Amino acid sequence: MIRKVKGTRDILPPESRLWAAVEAEARRIFGGLGYEEIRLPLLEPTELFVRGVGEGTDIVTKEMYTFADRKGRSLTLRPEGTAGVARAFIEDGLAQRPQPQRLYYIGPMFRYEKMQRGRYRQFGQIGIELLGAATPSADVEVLLALHEFLAALGFDDLIIMLNNLGDPEDRPRFVARLKEELAPHKHELCRDCQRRWDENPLRILDCKVDTCHAIVAETTPIADIVSGEARAHVETVAAGLDALGIPVQPAPRLVRGLDYYLRTVFEVVSPQLGEGTVICGGGRYDRLISDLGGPPVPGIGFAIGEDRLVDVLPQTFRDRILGTRPVVILPLAAEATAPAFDCARNLTGHGIEVRIEVTGRSLRAGLKWATKLGARAAVILGPDEIAAGTATLRDLDRGEQEEVSLEKLPAVLMQDGPEVPSRRLP
Ligand code: HAM
Repeated sequence: MIRKVKGTRDILPPESRLWAAVEAEARRIFGGLGYEEIRLPLLEPTELFVRGVGEGTDIVTKEMYTFADRKGRSLTLRPEGTAGVARAFIEDGLAQRPQPQRLYYIGPMFRYEKMQRGRYRQFGQIGIELLGAATPSADVEVLLALHEFLAALGFDDLIIMLNNLGDPEDRPRFVARLKEELAPHKHELCRDCQRRWDENPLRILDCKVDTCHAIVAETTPIADIVSGEARAHVETVAAGLDALGIPVQPAPRLVRGLDYYLRTVFEVVSPQLGEGTVICGGGRYDRLISDLGGPPVPGIGFAIGEDRLVDVLPQTFRDRILGTRPVVILPLAAEATAPAFDCARNLTGHGIEVRIEVTGRSLRAGLKWATKLGARAAVILGPDEIAAGTATLRDLDRGEQEEVSLEKLPAVLMQDGPEVPSRRLP
């Protein structure tokens, strides 16, 4: 048997319905705020991520699927979406369109990571990017979009954590202060943090090892060190969110695993998955486009991990999507085949979900199959029904049945009222 590549997943029905429904909700909410879809290649030149995401990041040093193509060019399966959006913004001249540009994307990303619950090597992201606006209002809009999306899915327990990384000019000052405060404890830090000390000292701040965590908790937060302008920016964002009743939690030690961020950074965590498994990450990246050789265009955005999101979807949403119950159509004679398909066409045209029996089951076996599917009703088409231009409609919950003319069938089935949730994911 050929098995799938480690770290990839098969999303089977009915779970695939949840994915489709989440994506439809994203299109509705983000589309309503003026975000339009951008569809970008999964393959990009490796250099894009080295320069965009950052040479010293975990993504670039350890996690990229990089290979040479047949002509020896170094290509990488995209590990994230923002660098690609920035490349497209420059290459496709999006600066010439009305600003700001509001874009969203939905699709797979690839990172060579250690597998665990919620961590895969191919995973889905749903992201938005707002390009060409540097004001705190832009940040508020992006966080509003995030909040509205999560609320539409029925979440009420997710926490938005917010921090201020300051401007790149603030960074050396902060790193010097951090190292000074950590120096007496340097030997107590974990091995990874020993390595980070020189390579990427900011990452020591979000080490999940308990001892490191405790040591870091005593250090001065980066937000206390940043310049007045950056401080005012993020304070205005926080006040704007407060005015909208969007709860955020200050997270003074939140740093992100990608180098392009400045000022506003945020993550969303779920009490169900814990702080180690972040549902969404994002922030402001005002230098990314210019660092990649484009104009000085600011940006802010986020990406939600779709696998993780689907994993913790509220039960109400799952029930709404998975709870629909089909109507089965059972043709019991050769002459019933065409009427059965005609009936299916008629019912689906009225928004009624059907399953046609096409394997030649008997009435008994057909009804058993219908029950297994969780169907709410069976439309039985035998020789007598065909002769009379009717169907026998059997209510599978009550076990009652009645003769209904084929034209009246949709109306009778719709009288049954809203479809009752009956099935849950196994
Ligand atoms: P990120 O924090 O690297 O940010 O990824 C965003 C989200 O993708 C994470 O919060 C997580 O839910 C999901 N994710 C990441 N790696 C995995 C994995 N191995 N398995 C499952 N889910 C994963 C970015 O990618 C930025 N581009 C976000 C952004 C957009 N910033 C500004 N605009």
